[in-house]
Amino acid sequence: MRWCLLALLLVDFHYVHARSVPRSALSDEDAEPAADPKILILGGGVAGVIAARTFYEQGITNFVIVEARDELGGRLQSQTIGAPGKELLVEYGANWVQGTQASEGGPENPIWSLVKKHGLNTTSSDWFGSMTTYDENGPADYLDTFDKSTDVYNELTVVAGARVEQQLVDLTARSGYSLIGSKPMTPADKACEYYAFDWEYAQSPLESSWIASSWGNNFTYDPDQGGFGDTNAMSIDQRGFKHFIQAEAADFLQPEQFILNATVTNIAYSSDRVEVTLKDGTVLTADYALCTFSLGVLQNDDVVFQPALPDWKQEAIQSMVMATYTKIFLQFPEDFWFDTQMGLYADPVRGRYPVWQNMNLTGFFPGSGVIFVTVTGEFSQRIEALPDKQVQKEVLEVLQAMFPNATIPEPTTFFFHRWHSDPLFRGSYSNWPPSFFSEHHQNLRATVDERLWFAGEATSQKYFGFLHGAYYEGLDVANNLAQCVQGNGCAFIANVTEVTNAYPYVI
Ligand SMILES: Cc1cc2nc3c(=O)[nH]c(=O)nc-3n(C[C@H](O)[C@H](O)[C@H](O)COP(=O)(O)OP(=O)(O)OC[C@H]3O[C@@H](n4cnc5c(N)ncnc54)[C@H](O)[C@@H]3O)c2cc1C
Ligand SMILES: *[C@@H]1O[C@H](CO)[C@@H](O)[C@H](O)[C@H]1NC(C)=O
Ligand SMILES: *[C@@H]1O[C@H](CO)[C@@H](O)[C@H](O)[C@H]1NC(C)=O
Ligand SMILES: *[C@@H]1O[C@H](CO)[C@@H](O)[C@H](O)[C@H]1NC(C)=O
Ligand SMILES: *[C@@H]1O[C@H](CO)[C@@H](O)[C@H](O)[C@H]1NC(C)=O
Ligand SMILES: *[C@@H]1O[C@H](CO)[C@@H](O)[C@H](O)[C@H]1NC(C)=O
Ligand SMILES: *[C@@H]1O[C@H](CO)[C@@H](O)[C@H](O)[C@H]1NC(C)=O
Repeated sequence: MRWCLLALLLVDFHYVHARSVPRSALSDEDAEPAADPKILILGGGVAGVIAARTFYEQGITNFVIVEARDELGGRLQSQTIGAPGKELLVEYGANWVQGTQASEGGPENPIWSLVKKHGLNTTSSDWFGSMTTYDENGPADYLDTFDKSTDVYNELTVVAGARVEQQLVDLTARSGYSLIGSKPMTPADKACEYYAFDWEYAQSPLESSWIASSWGNNFTYDPDQGGFGDTNAMSIDQRGFKHFIQAEAADFLQPEQFILNATVTNIAYSSDRVEVTLKDGTVLTADYALCTFSLGVLQNDDVVFQPALPDWKQEAIQSMVMATYTKIFLQFPEDFWFDTQMGLYADPVRGRYPVWQNMNLTGFFPGSGVIFVTVTGEFSQRIEALPDKQVQKEVLEVLQAMFPNATIPEPTTFFFHRWHSDPLFRGSYSNWPPSFFSEHHQNLRATVDERLWFAGEATSQKYFGFLHGAYYEGLDVANNLAQCVQGNGCAFIANVTEVTNAYPYVI
């Protein structure tokens, strides 16, 4: 009943309030619920769209997605690059469906289901069987080290599992590597470890939880642990990977159920309502808000909460890390590089322009002349602070080191997105730092004052960092909220008011 159309956005709150059931009665199962409570879904990425679909499927239609960008999709972002006549749409955000097993009795990745439903063009990408290796002196065959690093990584997840069973504390993944005897010393050793670890988590083993990173690997990639398999489908669809979620939204979303170009600056909440202020001064009121903004946005105060979020929520937000994963795209007029899918470069500095991907291949974009290199973590933040020209110079120097006899032409395109600086994201995806506390994670998801709900990639315990994590959180949290809205008793997501150590420190 508090729903107001766009023309009525500046509705007199007192008028609306006077007509509504006292909100404080809502948690009381005997009380009469509001006839048609309004929900604001803040953010139109995968979590926001799937939450909206979940409401729709339950017959709840009084919701509005509020999105700052001019399209839905969130971190599914693409751009057309390239010289005139050789344009190519590339994904500088998410690009893979991670885990695509369909049969064998295991679960199917819900992103894969949507990709198939909406007919996206994908290609299977081979991360381990199509690799050429380099160091600062050019081609250098260290494929044996590369193959071994995969086994070492698997052992890391197995030993982490044993720690969980014995209830041993978490350690850094670096400690884990050392304890299983893996102590990379040479640039090649480090590059191989980087490929297995940092290229996935966007942070180093030292910065990552041993247990959570192992769980993260298992739940997505290991069918024995309920995962979706280790094959990865890369979108090469020229409508953009985002097409799968935009097409899904188009199947149910009505024009009055989403607002684009609408940046939230303030979220005021109490135990009976939520009031959201946009950059242009518009005020939206609702009974509930479901916030799906990235962890980075929450960490960085890009949106102000009034009152300030409770201590337990702030501690949870600041306990998780928003990591950065940066793809740097180049197009060349002719090729001089490897003909495998992947290239690995071992710089003396770990993480310096290490992972290269060749798009000029059958099954990808033959004739495109496009390759890209990925950097992560602190190195991503470093290059974001540099002008494009300087980054381009470094990248070309690395290519010259990899191909000492080649005359490297000027690239016709050089492009990367600064995810860490982007005020709508402040990074690429979340990563779990060492000293893992499940309670912090629970608090990241927990409802505040019964009115303010949270969902997104980062709130997923099993799939943080992934599209399917955002999907499942949109689904699960919206299902809980739908119960409240329908007056079936509220399944609030509980908080742990203080996360304490089992034993006091011994000094
Ligand atoms: C470079 C990169 C590569 C990735 N690769 C993969 C991959 O290959 N496979 C995979 O599974 N996952 C990948 N991911 C992760 C995946 O993209 C995310 O997990 C997922 O898209 C997160 O969805 P979400 O709905 O939780 O959040 P978002 O997509 O961040 O949605 C939140 C929305 O809120 C909006 N918003 C933010 N602030 C405001 C504001 N103040 N007012 C209004 N709106 C606001 C944003 O614009 C955004 O649309 C990658 C991510 C990046 C960045
Ligand atoms: C959003 O803004 C863009 C760029 O300013 C504009 O082209 C587009 O029409 C706007 N879209 C909506 C739905 O307001
Ligand atoms: C990960 O999977 C492996 C192999 O299936 C298993 O042995 C290990 O216990 C799992 N690790 C965790 C942290 O669950
Ligand atoms: C792409 O690869 C083909 C061979 O597979 C080669 O003939 C062509 O020159 C390459 N294109 C560019 C632009 O590098
Ligand atoms: C899918 O992409 C491939 C490789 O670029 C292309 O050859 C093919 O035509 C595309 N298929 C469709 C249906 O768009
Ligand atoms: C580069 O050229 C030199 C001299 O011809 C040759 O010895 C060397 O093997 C070449 N290196 C590569 C990587 O092709
Ligand atoms: C946190 O949980 C407690 C019960 O455990 C509850 O009373 C309190 O309202 C919750 N805090 C908020 C801000 O929702």
